[in-house]
Amino acid sequence: MDAIALYNLERWNTLAREDALFTRPALDLTPETAREAIDPQNLLGAVSGKSVLLLAGGGGQQSAAFALLGANVTVFDLSDAQLGREKVVADHYSVIIETVGGDMRDLSGLPASHFDIVYHPYSLSLVPDAQVVFAEVARVLKPNGIYHFTLLNPFMAGMTFSDWDGESYRLRAPYVQGRTVTTPDASWVFREDQKPISPPQPNIEYVQTLSGILNGLVAKGFTLFHFSDNKDMYPDLNAEPGSWDHFVAYAPPWLSFWLRFTG
Ligand SMILES: C[S@@+](CC[C@H](N)C(=O)[O-])C[C@H]1O[C@@H](n2cnc3c(N)ncnc32)[C@H](O)[C@@H]1O
Repeated sequence: MDAIALYNLERWNTLAREDALFTRPALDLTPETAREAIDPQNLLGAVSGKSVLLLAGGGGQQSAAFALLGANVTVFDLSDAQLGREKVVADHYSVIIETVGGDMRDLSGLPASHFDIVYHPYSLSLVPDAQVVFAEVARVLKPNGIYHFTLLNPFMAGMTFSDWDGESYRLRAPYVQGRTVTTPDASWVFREDQKPISPPQPNIEYVQTLSGILNGLVAKGFTLFHFSDNKDMYPDLNAEPGSWDHFVAYAPPWLSFWLRFTG
């Protein structure tokens, strides 16, 4: 395991210990809300009976939704604590969820041409080079399989709500492939009534340029069929300037890609 993986392993195990937002399993889903949670536009079609890989997707949120919709779910994640949440989900809904530990840059422990869907919740920017991950995903997807992932918006990476200067948000860092972005966790990541006992190390991410992402995907045989800047999630232009709600209405933080592996 390299230093990047070790850093994230420790950070995500700490986040899980602190019961941070992304580590709380979804235990109140129904089949109707499950679809809304993972695929509100129904881009995946029926998932019942499909083999789904949740890549870097531990924590028990997306797995619960896919399992309730009848998919055969495998969760792959670096953090044993995040994979531990999958047991909570499996027991709660009486479903089977397979878990595999490892680094998203090496999926050699998973069978080739096996999955109908690779669903990759926000985490790609936790590694410096997305191309390595794309090559691994191409190997494990079936022909015509679907790959979905969400990415740190590279055009405003590193900027946040506290960068409001009274008139605008200040963009202070260059647009460079692989540039590191270090951010403390927002307070809402933790439970309101309880401060973290041992705060995790700050979040370290790596900028992936849009041309690098798109050209890399094309070169590996992926065809884009839907793209979203998730703007509809952030409609509040009237929020207090310098607040999170105002900031994200100006600068959408996440981009979502839906692709088919056409080989
Ligand atoms: C933001 S969470 C995404 C999944 C979570 N279910 C959610 O909805 O927020 C990021 C996940 O990526 C995992 N992770 C971080 N680096 C990883 C790596 N190199 N390989 C595999 N998983 C990794 C973390 O353990 C964590 O579970």
